[in-house]
Amino acid sequence: MSFLASSLGKIKASPTIAVAMKAAELKAAGKDIISLGMGEPDFDTPENIKNVAIEAIKKGDTKYTAVDGTAALKKAIIGKLKRENNLEYKPSEICVSTGAKQVIFNALLATINAEDEVIIPAPYWVSYPDMVLLAGGNPVIVESSAENNFKITPAALEAKITPKTKWIILNSPSNPTGACYSGSELKALSEVLLRHPQVNVMADDIYEHLIFDDLKFATIAEIEPKLKEHTLIVNGVSKAYAMTGWRIGYGAGPEKLLKAMSTIQSQSTSSPSSVSQAAAVEALNGVQDYVHSSKKVFQARRDMVVAMLNKIEGIKCNTPNGAFYVFPSCKGLYGKKTSTGKAIENDNDFATYLLEEALVAVVPGVAFGAADFFRISYAASEEFLQNSMQRIAEACAKLK
Ligand SMILES: Cc1ncc(COP(=O)(O)O)c(C=O)c1O
Repeated sequence: MSFLASSLGKIKASPTIAVAMKAAELKAAGKDIISLGMGEPDFDTPENIKNVAIEAIKKGDTKYTAVDGTAALKKAIIGKLKRENNLEYKPSEICVSTGAKQVIFNALLATINAEDEVIIPAPYWVSYPDMVLLAGGNPVIVESSAENNFKITPAALEAKITPKTKWIILNSPSNPTGACYSGSELKALSEVLLRHPQVNVMADDIYEHLIFDDLKFATIAEIEPKLKEHTLIVNGVSKAYAMTGWRIGYGAGPEKLLKAMSTIQSQSTSSPSSVSQAAAVEALNGVQDYVHSSKKVFQARRDMVVAMLNKIEGIKCNTPNGAFYVFPSCKGLYGKKTSTGKAIENDNDFATYLLEEALVAVVPGVAFGAADFFRISYAASEEFLQNSMQRIAEACAKLK
C-alpha cells in the first residue's frame, strides 16, 4: 500500500514557485540573480490599509470570524460588485477565503465528480489544471494563438464542450499573457455557453484593476445577465491592493454553490484571518489612489519591457492589455548554440540558459501550457527591469 495518495501522482509542485526556489538557491550561493518569476506587485500595501489592520489588532479583532467572512467584509464586497461590476449579490451568495486560490479550490472540490471536465484556455495559470486533477476531474485545454492575442474563439470553445463539461475557467486579464477579453468578445463566448447550460463559468477576475490603454474591464455575468446564475466570480485584494501576503479572496455566485464552498472551508481552514478581513474592508471601501497610481506605473513598465524585448533578435513580444506579465516567444532562437555548444531547442532550454548565462529567472511557457514562450513579470522597478532586459539582450546576442 502506498503511503502517499494516488491523486498526488497526477500533480506537480507549482512551476512558478519552483523557478523562484531555484533562483533563491543560486542567490544563496552568491550569484547575482534577478528574478522575473514573481507574481506579485513590488509595491507595499497602502498605508491606510495597514493602519486599519493595526487598529483591528489593538481593538482585539483577533478571533475566529464567521467561516464565510465577516458581515462588514461581505457588505464591502457586495458594494464593490455593485459599484464596479453592476452585479447584485446577497450576503449568502458570498464566501471570503484565504486568497482567491482557496476560492477556486473550494469551488472545484464542491462541484467536481469523477470524470467531470473543466475547460481551461491555454496559456493558463499554472494551478488550474492541477487543482482540477486534485478534485478528481479532467482538465480539457482549449488552445489560443499569439496571433489572436492568446484569446480563445467561440468556435474553439464550443468544440471542447461535452455533456461532461462542468466549468470553463475564464481569466481576464490573464496570467501569464496579460490578455483581456473585451465586452463583445465575452458576449460572443456567452452565446456559446447559453447553448450548453451544463457549463458553468469560473470568472477569475483577480487582475481586474490592472487593465491598460483605457480598456474597460468586463466580466461575463455583467455582459450576459442570463449567465449570472451559472457564474462564480473569483476575485480578491492580492493583486489590486498589493496585499498578496494578507491572503484574502472572495467568491460570488449562486447561493447553493457558495454554501457548499463554505461547508468545505469550515472543515479545512475555517475563517480567513480576522485582521486581514478588516484590512480588506478598508481596501475595498477606502480611497482608491493606489489602484489608479499603480496602474499607470505598470503600463509604463509594460511599454518599456515590450519595446526592449522586441529589439532582441529572435524574441517576439505582443503588447498585452493587462496584468503585470508579458509572454514573449523565444522560437526565433531555436537551433542557436550557447558558448558551450548546447543548442536551444525549446523554451525550457532557453529559460535555463537565461538563468545560467544572464542570471535572470523567467518561467518557461510550457509551465502554462504554451511551449515556445516564456513569462516575464514586470512587477519590479524600472531600473531593475532595464538591467534585466539588458542582460537578456546580451545573453541572446551570445547565441550563435
Ligand atoms: C490567475 C490567478 N488567479 C488566482 C490567483 C491567486 O490569488 P490569491 O493570492 O488571492 O490566492 C493568482 C495568483 O497568482 C493568479 O495569478
